[in-house]
Amino acid sequence: MNDTRGFQHGLTNYGDPDFSLYLRRSFAQSMGYSREMLGKPVIGIAYTPSGFNNCHRHFPELLDAVKRGVLAAGALPVEFPTVSLGEVFLNPTSLKFRNLMAMDTEEMIRAQPMDAVVLMGGCDKTVPAQLMGAVSAGRPAVMLVAGPMMTGRHQGERLGACTDCRQFWARYRAGGIDATEISTVESRLATTAGTCAVMGTASTMACLAEALGMILPGTSAIPAVHADRLRAAEATGAAAVRMIGSQLTPERIVNVKSVENALRVLLALGGSTNAVIHLTAIAGRAGIPVSLGRLNELSDTTPVLVNLKPVGSHYMEDFFAAGGIGAVLRELKPLLHLDCLTVTGETLGERLANDTDAWVDRTVIAAATEPLEPQGGLVALFGNLAPKGAVLKRSAADADLFEHEGRAVVFSSLADLSARVDDPALDVTPQDIMVLQNAGPHAPEAMPEAGYLPIPKKLASAGVKDMVRISDARMSGTAFGTIVLHITPDSASGGPLGLVRNGDRIRLSVKRRRIELLVDDAELHRRARVMPRPPMKPTRGYAKLYADEILGADEGCDFGFLKPK
Ligand code: FES
Repeated sequence: MNDTRGFQHGLTNYGDPDFSLYLRRSFAQSMGYSREMLGKPVIGIAYTPSGFNNCHRHFPELLDAVKRGVLAAGALPVEFPTVSLGEVFLNPTSLKFRNLMAMDTEEMIRAQPMDAVVLMGGCDKTVPAQLMGAVSAGRPAVMLVAGPMMTGRHQGERLGACTDCRQFWARYRAGGIDATEISTVESRLATTAGTCAVMGTASTMACLAEALGMILPGTSAIPAVHADRLRAAEATGAAAVRMIGSQLTPERIVNVKSVENALRVLLALGGSTNAVIHLTAIAGRAGIPVSLGRLNELSDTTPVLVNLKPVGSHYMEDFFAAGGIGAVLRELKPLLHLDCLTVTGETLGERLANDTDAWVDRTVIAAATEPLEPQGGLVALFGNLAPKGAVLKRSAADADLFEHEGRAVVFSSLADLSARVDDPALDVTPQDIMVLQNAGPHAPEAMPEAGYLPIPKKLASAGVKDMVRISDARMSGTAFGTIVLHITPDSASGGPLGLVRNGDRIRLSVKRRRIELLVDDAELHRRARVMPRPPMKPTRGYAKLYADEILGADEGCDFGFLKPK
């Protein structure tokens, strides 16, 4: 630890470094630290509890355990707050603020005196935001995730946020349950601390963080309330101390090979479509492009192994008990780059060689020789409707709709959708393709999780469960259906999705990886010439920064100026 600098690192500039150090020590002593403690290396802890973040409500207890690990390993733990993003408490959507949290995390790691940092995150956007910031900050960093919620029960049925939130809401919309029952269900969906209980975005990102090598082996799926989560927190604190002065910085751990490993794991999990955007953003901070073409190549050769909601039938607590991400990595071993470094200093290959807990519950995690699906859960689509690509979670879709041509039923905005989707006079049939425009990253709503367009009430009550739905929006990782997302370029930046009109024919072919608008180019050019002017951009604050700098989904929706030159 000779090369550590602790509180001496990055002095406040008063033009006299000795005075700066004297002043800093003096003020630090006002917090009750002894001289001995102030002489130790410092582990910063990016700490994100918030009254607006239910998923992080156990962070005070986890923080105690991290600090215990840091102290026992000989360093001084110092937590600091950053932006926290509670998924359902943010308007218009948490994605708009992911880059703000990433900037906050990066700058606070860089500006404050710490030798290494523990990143405590969990809820959807917090993990990618912290990893993006840490990659850019370039200081040794190890992640600790919140861990998933436990399931609840309703009339003998297991409930887990948030796939079951949607299932019950769909039943309610279709008239299958009444207002009293949906109100009871509401109080039983999310009953413990932790992140959503299925393989949604938060759990997917936790697993990808482990696949990237950024969190301790075996810790991504431990339930939030399990004692092992506290032991993981203690071990993470100790690991951060071991990383001081090492070359184990995030921009080295996140490299071309580890990003490809993470994509393989994403495909094997049948994980969240949001993870494609977040992984692209994290990799982008290390200067690594993620191509949707490559995603398709990997998807063709990666089996789906994990039987979890929203695609399958189990929950994250079952995944943990079944063997967790270690079991998935062992099955994928022949497909992975085993020379990738992890935060422990071991390579992935060494980690798997030392992984002796070979018991696996095969009802939850399939063997690669007997996969749930022979090909990956996600597929990228291209065509004149999505020149820079779109994403479909085929593992959560209805295979009968994979080769489908239909008539477009267009909603020009989220407001238009909510105003008309349940109108009994809406001209729509189950064979139509529902189109939502102006819900991408350049729209004022900042790419909300609105791609899961509700089935129009008159069709839902007639028993229709799925239709092809396409948009430039995202979809919650906990949702399901034949839903084409992230169409890029998006409508608000002039993409062809904005040129679709009611009654146009659209063709989806998962086999050919195509999404096409069957309207000739001359007509599309004519429509483009008469498009209404885009709304005025915001003129101040973060909203202006967002509007000026946001990149498309193909670049992870990062800000242009945050990417390395
Ligand atoms: Fe936080 Fe789902 S609301 S992970």
